[in-house]
Amino acid sequence: MEIKKVGVVGCGLMGHGIVQVAAQAGMDVVAVEAEQGFLDKGLGRIEKSVKKLAAKAVEKGKATEEQANANAAATLGRIHGSLDKADLADCDLIVEAIVEDLDVKKALFAELGGLAKPGAIFASNTSSFPVIEMAEASGRPERFVGLHFFNPVQLMRLVEVVRTEKTDDEVFAAARAFGEAVGKKPVACKDTPGFVVNRLLVPYMVQSLQMLERGDATADDIDAAMQFGCGYPMGPITLTDYVGLDTTLSILEGWVERYPNEPAFAIPECLRQKVAEGKLGRKSGEGFYKWEGDKRA
Ligand code: 3HC
Repeated sequence: MEIKKVGVVGCGLMGHGIVQVAAQAGMDVVAVEAEQGFLDKGLGRIEKSVKKLAAKAVEKGKATEEQANANAAATLGRIHGSLDKADLADCDLIVEAIVEDLDVKKALFAELGGLAKPGAIFASNTSSFPVIEMAEASGRPERFVGLHFFNPVQLMRLVEVVRTEKTDDEVFAAARAFGEAVGKKPVACKDTPGFVVNRLLVPYMVQSLQMLERGDATADDIDAAMQFGCGYPMGPITLTDYVGLDTTLSILEGWVERYPNEPAFAIPECLRQKVAEGKLGRKSGEGFYKWEGDKRA
């Protein structure tokens, strides 16, 4: 089961990266968005990132300027933006990377179930919802997996491949092979809350915010402790800003609803407060820190 043509629904923070890595791997990609403005923004980000990677390849002597530019142009040429989900009909794999709202995702998969070709594989990039619920909504649960990428998709080397009790073996194998083809290390996960990474990472972020609330240490010192003490590229509070405070809150809210007695999922008040104030982290320019683009100010 070879994946040659990929559809990605949602061209935001995660979706644009998934579009890009699939196109870089030589696949044709249809990127679907709901509005022209969102599509333009996503495609613009891809262009910027592809050019950045091309310049880096030249700098490192991995390609001549001519080769790198030709490569970048070929990658961009494989991407087709669309506002029409009907353009996904002949895709071998359709990856959903829309808003983290289970009802919206289920409605999307019900629609995709009615228009995708019979052999298509469906995948959700959800970071926390039960994959089986979307699988059932699609009407094709045996052809459904989770494909959970990490932010920034272009640079982070992992993809979690989530199989439900209904996923066909050959579908799982094809999804795993897709992960490898786009340059990632795939790991197999069961359909559990947060899979592997977020089940460990989100409670760690929660602990860091609870420390901040208790006044155990400043945000800068908590972050410096993990960066310099454990060699993490970012401290937990910077990372929470980087992931998005709204995203982190919505992951936790979903878990609290399902597992109200799990202390690791307790929602820190300071997180709720920042989101209520519209301070969403990097994406809004301010969270626990101030941001200028992708960098802390
Ligand atoms: N495309 C291409 N190149 C990019 C890029 C992109 N989207 N983003 C950054 N880069 C490049 C930069 O231009 C820079 O290039 P240079 O070395 O030529 O200057 C290089 O990558 C390194 O980036 P930066 O200089 O900005 O800074 P860092 O060295 O700190 O690297 C980072 C940035 C890779 C994000 C690193 O800080 C990191 O690994 N942070 C942790 C990220 C992480 O943990 N992500 C997982 C989040 S959890 C998640 O996603 C799950 C979800 O469900 C919640």
